[in-house]
Amino acid sequence: MASDLTPTKADRFSFGLWTVGWQGRDPFGEVTRPALDPVETVHRLAELGAYGVTFHDDDLIPFGADNTERERCVKRFRAALDDTGLVVPMATTNLFFHPVFKEGAFTANDRSVRRFALRKTMRNIDLAAELGARTYVAWGGREGAESDAAKDPRAALDRLKEAVDLLCQYVRERGYDLRFALEPKPNEPRGDILLPTIGHALAFINQLEYPDMVGLNPEVGHETMAGLNVVHGYAQALWAGKLFHIDLNGQHGLKYDQDLRFGAADVKSAFFLVDLLEGAGYDGPRHFDFKPPRAENVDGAWVSAAACMRTYLILREKARAFRQDPRVIDALEAAGVGALSTPTLAPGETLADLVADPTAYETFDADAAGARAVNIEHLDQLALEHLLGVA
Ligand code: GCO
Ligand code: MN
Ligand code: MN
Repeated sequence: MASDLTPTKADRFSFGLWTVGWQGRDPFGEVTRPALDPVETVHRLAELGAYGVTFHDDDLIPFGADNTERERCVKRFRAALDDTGLVVPMATTNLFFHPVFKEGAFTANDRSVRRFALRKTMRNIDLAAELGARTYVAWGGREGAESDAAKDPRAALDRLKEAVDLLCQYVRERGYDLRFALEPKPNEPRGDILLPTIGHALAFINQLEYPDMVGLNPEVGHETMAGLNVVHGYAQALWAGKLFHIDLNGQHGLKYDQDLRFGAADVKSAFFLVDLLEGAGYDGPRHFDFKPPRAENVDGAWVSAAACMRTYLILREKARAFRQDPRVIDALEAAGVGALSTPTLAPGETLADLVADPTAYETFDADAAGARAVNIEHLDQLALEHLLGVA
C-alpha cells in the first residue's frame, strides 16, 4: 500500500489537554501518572503532527484562580501556540468536576448554580474566541439524574434550552465567530444524562432560539455505550448539516465509558466511519477524546496519542483503496448501492402519477422482487478483506 502514515497539520488532528493529560484516577485507584504541563503538551502534540489542541477552562486555568494566575496561564499557553503554530479549534467548559455541579449545572435544581454555570461558561467563551476557536463544545456530564423523582425532565429541558439560548445570545452580542456543538452521552457520571444520543440532541436543537448556531460533537464511544450504530449516527448528523465537530475514540460495547484510543475497539465501524467522513468531505478537526490506559506511564500515553492519528491515516488509506478497487465498484453495482440515490419518483412525476401507475402496484411482481439477489455478503467481505490487508 503506497502510503504516508506520518500525520501533518493538513490532516487536522487535534487533542484535548485532558486526554493525554489524564492522570489515571478512577473510582478504584489513585493517579498513576504525573500532571502534564499544558505548555509541554502543546509542544509534544506539535512534534507528533497534530494541528490543534483543545481544553476545558479548568485544564488550563485552575478552578478559582485569581486574575494574575489566570493571565499567567494564558500567556504561557499562547506563547507555546505561537512557538509551534498549533491552533485552538475548540474549547469547552468543565461543568462536572467541582462539587458545586454535583446535582447538575445548567439544569441544577438550584438556580444559583445554574447562574454560576452560565457565567463560568461565558468567561471561557471569551478566552475561546480570543484564541481563535470556532467551535464551543457543551457536554452535559452532570445534566441528568439517578432518580426520576428528584428531577423533572421537562423542566430540565426548559432550563437547558434557556442556557443554550442565552449562550448563543452572548456570542451574537459579542460578535464572536463561534458555533456550539452539543455532545450526547447516555450515562456516566450521572445514572442517566439528558440528550443521551445524537438523535435526542438533533431534536433538541430544533426547539432552540438560534438553531443555526448549534450542532453536534458526537463521540464514537458514547453512541456505542447506547448500543447504537456509530456510522448511522454520524451520518444523520451530517445529513442534518449538524456535524460541527467530532470526538474520535474506541469503546467495546455497552460498558463504562472506556475512551480507548481511536480504532482500538470496533475497527470495522472505525473503518466505515473514516470512509463516511472522508467521502462526505467533512472538513472539521479530527479530534481525539480518548484516555491513555491507566496502566501506561507517560511515554505510553504519548504512544497511545500517536497511534490514534496513525490508525486514522491507515483507515483513510484503506477506505480509499476500498473505493477504488474495481471488484468493489462491481460489487457495489451488484448490490444496487448507488441506485438508492435515484429518487423514487421519476423526474416530473407526481404523486397522482404514482397512484395511477399499475406497474408500481397492480402488476408489480412482489414475489419475484422478494426472490431477487441483493449481494450484500460479497461486498461486506471485500470491505473486511481490505481492512485485514488481504484484498
Ligand atoms: C466523556 C466526554 C468528555 C467530554 C469533554 C468535553 O468522555 O465523557 O467525552 O470527555 O468530551 O469533557 O466536555
Ligand atoms: Mn467518552
Ligand atoms: Mn467527548
